[in-house]
Amino acid sequence: MELTRRRQSMSYLTKQKAGKILVGDTFQIARQAALAKESHANVIDATVGALFDDDQQFYEYKTVTRMIKRLAVAKHYAYAPTSGGDAFKKHISDWVFGPYATMITNEFHHDVVATPGASGALYNTFMNYLDEHDTLIMPDIYWTNYLVMLGNINAKHLTYPLFKEGAFHFDAFVDATKKVLEHHQKIVCLFNDPAHNPTGYSLSLDEWTRIYDYLNGLVTEGAEVIVLYDLAYLDYEGETHLESRRLFEALKAIETDILVILAFSGSKSFSLYGLRLGAQIALSRNKQHIKAFKNAAVYSARGTWSCPPSTGPLMLGQLFSDDLQTKKFAKELDRARVMLRARAEVFLGEAKIAGLPTYPYRGGFFITIPVEDPDQAFDRLAGIHIYTIPVDQGIRIAISSIPMSLITGMARRIKNALT
Ligand SMILES: Cc1ncc(COP(=O)(O)O)c(C=O)c1O
Repeated sequence: MELTRRRQSMSYLTKQKAGKILVGDTFQIARQAALAKESHANVIDATVGALFDDDQQFYEYKTVTRMIKRLAVAKHYAYAPTSGGDAFKKHISDWVFGPYATMITNEFHHDVVATPGASGALYNTFMNYLDEHDTLIMPDIYWTNYLVMLGNINAKHLTYPLFKEGAFHFDAFVDATKKVLEHHQKIVCLFNDPAHNPTGYSLSLDEWTRIYDYLNGLVTEGAEVIVLYDLAYLDYEGETHLESRRLFEALKAIETDILVILAFSGSKSFSLYGLRLGAQIALSRNKQHIKAFKNAAVYSARGTWSCPPSTGPLMLGQLFSDDLQTKKFAKELDRARVMLRARAEVFLGEAKIAGLPTYPYRGGFFITIPVEDPDQAFDRLAGIHIYTIPVDQGIRIAISSIPMSLITGMARRIKNALT
């Protein structure tokens, strides 16, 4: 009897996991929207961080589908190398860095490890670079899943205000780094750029250069600096592939031992959300940092998901070894950018007329409306069958998933519901 009672009150879970429960997650809210659609015809589902065309179907890259179909069945069945392999490293580096790939190879040491989506890249970085006494520094408006990842490994974080007068709040960032450096030598700073989730903001070249200049100074004074650069929406910013890569110019400002780890998302760039294609890309002027990165990243990848799904890296191999298909894919991507931009222009134009404020948007899947009480705003909008995602200090609208026909008139409806 005594034993039974004790068992009921005890958790079999580890101390770290006991009591942890996923609430308010984007996938859960998306499910609410899906349920509402079953009973109401006029539901607008602005929850999903995926790209849909104007017929409300997944934006399918036909070239990507064609490349996958070209693969022999046995290729999908076989295990992939844990790191993704040398061909994967080359294809990802060339795609991500574009016109800067040669500069990266010539001026930096760099390496790549395949991960299940950008999520795997972020998690692998948190796992390997945040000890229990370390603190991740990030802006106060962020993709909410960062907190789940940090919670999963009991890592601490410190936020600073992202904006001051519509631009990056550099001074607040500096204050946050100083606070952490009062007690520790090491800082890990997370930036989600370009086309930040949830605001759609992109740092300017000047803002990035100022950040690296400042971080160079910290390293010179003895600090260890890691920049975690989540560029999940890289391919949906700017008008062309070339333009979206313009911010890599700022990497040239790195003069010291800073370690930059980029998180790349194949979910977004190739619309392969379910296939879990991603990469962790590290670069530094210090060879030892890259060697240590590769060893630890492969070790922890093998120790968690073991190896990436084979299909993604093999699809990339097919796509990027065929110039014609690569060009076709780039054109499809340009069309996706045009579609998103057109939606953003209508929404932002109507928001301006309606007097609905938004955070500064430069590109990407989301526009966010600043509100004081995000949960209350969510309820009010759900009341008129518009489903959004409450984030810190705002309500996120996924223009990526709403057809133009529904975007039109939406800003006015939101304004009316919130006032
Ligand atoms: C800012 C940001 N980073 C990373 C991810 C992870 O994407 P995935 O793991 O599907 O590549 C997402 C997905 O929504 C995101 O919004």
